Amino acid sequence: MNQWLLSGGVGFIGYHVAEALLARGDAVTIVDDFSDAPYPARYKRRNAEHLKAAFPHVSIVEGTVTDREHMNALVQGKSGVIHLAGLAGVRPSFTSPARYAEVNVQGTASLFEATMAVGIRNFVFASSSSVYGNSTPLPATEDAACTEPESPYAATKRAAELITKPLCAVRPDARCVALRFFTVYGARQRPEMAITLFMRAVLEGRPLTVFGDGGMRRDFTHVDDITRGVVASADAAHAGWSAYNLGSGAPVTLGELIAGIEQVAGKKAIIERAGKPAGDVDATYASIDKARRELDWEPRVKLIEGLVTVRDWVTAND
Ligand SMILES: NC(=O)c1ccc[n+]([C@@H]2O[C@H](COP(=O)([O-])OP(=O)(O)OC[C@H]3O[C@@H](n4cnc5c(N)ncnc54)[C@H](O)[C@@H]3O)[C@@H](O)[C@H]2O)c1
Repeated sequence: MNQWLLSGGVGFIGYHVAEALLARGDAVTIVDDFSDAPYPARYKRRNAEHLKAAFPHVSIVEGTVTDREHMNALVQGKSGVIHLAGLAGVRPSFTSPARYAEVNVQGTASLFEATMAVGIRNFVFASSSSVYGNSTPLPATEDAACTEPESPYAATKRAAELITKPLCAVRPDARCVALRFFTVYGARQRPEMAITLFMRAVLEGRPLTVFGDGGMRRDFTHVDDITRGVVASADAAHAGWSAYNLGSGAPVTLGELIAGIEQVAGKKAIIERAGKPAGDVDATYASIDKARRELDWEPRVKLIEGLVTVRDWVTAND
């Protein structure tokens, strides 16, 4: 039986991954610090309650991935580690760079060390499309140099990749997968993220703020597709270090996104404009050939279908 340690399992993506693993009968221990960053802890408590109600045997432990001794204890007896805990979000990383570095770099190194120390050879972790910055030719491929991150957040995700890669190389039987998620949306999305904020604003007739001229392009990817990608990469058997893009491969502009939200909400958006914030890249666009080829993964959820899941979630939940 698969026995997973899943860090960040009461967060947005973590909730969906936990649900998918538990639904197929795997054993899952979640570790999460239930912190208030980058959004209030009550959303994580709600996710934990929903998981407990659906799967009473799930184990949910409060702890931080930077606590090496605690991680040593939690990895015991596990067959693999899926590490999604982290401080997400480009903009807040400009005000708390040290905290981002501690959690995303030291936390990943710490959990990786603890995992390898007990002989577990399967480590999958959340990286980000932000590692590509503005200088990578699009569509971005995994072998790009990724040398110019535009934010402290992007730098921490790239650093976690650069630390785990050589560590994996000296353990020939180990496998470590860095998953570069491209702007993920769906039910339970982090409340400070654009699609959920925009959907609530349009449904409630409030103005929404668009940064820049609306021409910024994002490869929005539904959380159900991301979840299948995380599970497929955790199940894959080949040894070594790999990065995979998990993106829709079909970027849209913010203007096109808002038109989709208006269609699904059945209301017009009231748009206010503001300058482009520091750290935001101009466009993200994933090449997904490698994930298709090696993980047999394909994004399935079209933007309008995905926006319906967001509308239904925000209509029923605060
Ligand atoms: N959502 C996206 O669009 C996206 C895109 C690229 C990468 N990612 C990455 O995917 C992962 C999950 O993102 P998400 O959107 O679900 O964010 P999230 O904030 O909802 O989930 C992260 C979880 O990690 C937990 N956490 C934070 N610090 C911790 C610590 N020190 N110890 C233990 N737990 C800790 C949080 O409490 C939270 O539950 C993150 O690593 C994020 O950087 C997300």
